Amino acid sequence: MRRLAPALLLITISIAAASAQTIHYSDARKLWLITTPHSSYAMGIGPQGELQNLYWGGPLWRIEDLPAAREQKDISSFDPHQMLENEEYPGWGGPRYYEPALKITRADGDRDLVLHYVSHHIDGDTLEIDLKDIRDDIRVTLHYRVHPDTGIIERWSTIRNATQQPITIVSAQSATWHVPHGDGYRLSYLSGRWAAETQLNREEIHEGMKVLESRLGESGHNLNPWFAIDPGDADEAHGRVWFGALAWSGNWRITVEQTPYRQVRITGGYNTFDFSYPLAPGESLETPAFYGGFADHGFGQASRLLHDLERAHIAPHGASARLRPVLYNSWEATTFHITEAGQVALAEKAARIGVELFVMDDGWFGARNDDHAGLGDWTPNPQKFPHGLAPLIAKVNALGMDFGLWVEPEMANPDSNLYRAHPDWVMNFPGRPRSELRNQLILNLARDDVKQYIFTFLDKLATDNNIRYFKWDMNRVFAEPGWPEAPLAEQQTLWVKYVRNYYDILRRLRDKHPDLEIESCSGGGGRVDLGVLPYVDEFWTSDNTEAFDRLRIQEGFSQAYAARFMSAWVTDVPNTNHRSTPLAYRFLVAMQGALGIGANLNKWSSDDFALATKMVALSKRIRATVQDGDLYRLLSPRTNDVTANEYVAKDGKQSVVFAFRHAQQYNTPAPAILLRGLDPHALYRIESPDNQLLGGATQLSGAYLMSRGLDFQLEDDYDATIAVLTRVD
Ligand code: GLA
Repeated sequence: MRRLAPALLLITISIAAASAQTIHYSDARKLWLITTPHSSYAMGIGPQGELQNLYWGGPLWRIEDLPAAREQKDISSFDPHQMLENEEYPGWGGPRYYEPALKITRADGDRDLVLHYVSHHIDGDTLEIDLKDIRDDIRVTLHYRVHPDTGIIERWSTIRNATQQPITIVSAQSATWHVPHGDGYRLSYLSGRWAAETQLNREEIHEGMKVLESRLGESGHNLNPWFAIDPGDADEAHGRVWFGALAWSGNWRITVEQTPYRQVRITGGYNTFDFSYPLAPGESLETPAFYGGFADHGFGQASRLLHDLERAHIAPHGASARLRPVLYNSWEATTFHITEAGQVALAEKAARIGVELFVMDDGWFGARNDDHAGLGDWTPNPQKFPHGLAPLIAKVNALGMDFGLWVEPEMANPDSNLYRAHPDWVMNFPGRPRSELRNQLILNLARDDVKQYIFTFLDKLATDNNIRYFKWDMNRVFAEPGWPEAPLAEQQTLWVKYVRNYYDILRRLRDKHPDLEIESCSGGGGRVDLGVLPYVDEFWTSDNTEAFDRLRIQEGFSQAYAARFMSAWVTDVPNTNHRSTPLAYRFLVAMQGALGIGANLNKWSSDDFALATKMVALSKRIRATVQDGDLYRLLSPRTNDVTANEYVAKDGKQSVVFAFRHAQQYNTPAPAILLRGLDPHALYRIESPDNQLLGGATQLSGAYLMSRGLDFQLEDDYDATIAVLTRVD
């Protein structure tokens, strides 16, 4: 261990001592301090009983440092004290004009709600605080689950109607977060569209409100439920960053609001758009989890903390999850033109290059010869598979690969037996158009019969066949979200119940088939969020598999999600945008996630096969580092001609650096690439196809690699290279 200065040592010891207990409460001063090695969070009860946020940021160790919650003074009759206090979970009531966390309507039209502290309960790393309206028995439990290893706090709320009258919830948020008062903050968020998801944006926060949301029924291609806020000066390696991600795969909303009083508040939960959720006496509603964390080493650390949280605490199997297998998917090779013989031919070629999981995509079932028919009829097409799926699966298994299957369970083509039998199963407003997108309608999964039908056919497929993996797709968004069979007051609960039933099916399938893995896909990255992550092993990142475009999509994806969840395929060129990049470049881009191959192997040359075989073997050598290590984004495709990423294994033994040149300008060398996350005192053996890289050396110190860096010889357009570093002890 390196020597620590005495003062630093003291702090380290105090935090270590405190970390045995994460949540502290001072009864005398009515405040809580949540503290972890990465961050602290504090709240207090104000004189009237309102719960105030007191602090969110770097780790504190002394509860006595925090001032008790107090009532501010009104500035004017236009600036009441309520507006100046950082209320932790404000109801809409009294003189409060910012975004509320909860808004309700009572049966008699009374809409005033003021929430005050009632009690709390600490149990290990979880804290529950009960609030209640100042008059009525409308109760809210605020849940805090602290993850001490990352400092990330998972917050959600349960809203309960303990009165004798029905109420209707019109806004139910998971949490409000406050960063320290100030100006000049900057918001980072991910936006995009189909085939161009997760593009990173950074913009200054000014007074007013920025709304990030989905009204699409799914989390969506357009905005992803993630944010980061910094004081305006953070970069990948430095600076304070507050970040969060909302765990919901339906209509979500995150508002980032700067008040006139230099408060920056982030509120997130169910989208308030078209939201109306009745609670009869005794009923309750739970909101999705909203994760929030703090990093004081820049956006890079913020991402690494989220990645650690996802792998250890959110995704299936936690730390014991297997490394993502190398996958082949037939979609771009065959589209709907599937035959058993054609799939076998592809499987044989895929096995030769080291593929471990062979996935048959769309076109295998019902009358599915194009996208006009068949969705809903989940039995193998008898012309294409006269003996069912068993012969193909047996062949794939005999080749040493697992078998995976594409499904799109929530959909029906009007031209399907399912729709002919159950036209009432699709969401609709009676007498109104049923808008088709990609010639399909969307089943109302809020209905129990639809839920049962979907579970039953998926369970049967997984029971009757040796299926290791479902690619669960969703190729359209909601329209006319009507539920005419439900009582009028409950029809809008479709938005929430649909998603809960979706999760429920995934949960039940996994419980019943413990080896089954699932990919969340929605025409690419339309359903990438932490809400579905407990039930899926990978996300399909984007239908855009063009390698250069992917650098930006992957950069954005990596802000919020770990590499092991990012499906990334090598496909043929010229790609959708007519660009051609070398096969090695495509492999090196895709190897930074869960590697897949989606090319038409029937068209590959023997040179392609030879290169692919080497690349697949290389990816297997480094995938533990990529998928479970620490990511350092060294050079961004948004701002540089060269993009570089580094992955460092948790034990520090292996590091991998990828570098990609876009377009070189004559005689302009690529910049030196300075590594991060190494031990300056250690030596690293470096292997790279780039012979020039080492200038004769075989080993370099961590200090040199991080301070002087590597000069990759990236001379041509779309040159790409990799260096594998092994720590020499
Ligand atoms: C979506 C998916 C693709 C493919 C097609 C099949 O677009 O994102 O990967 O599965 O559907 O129809």
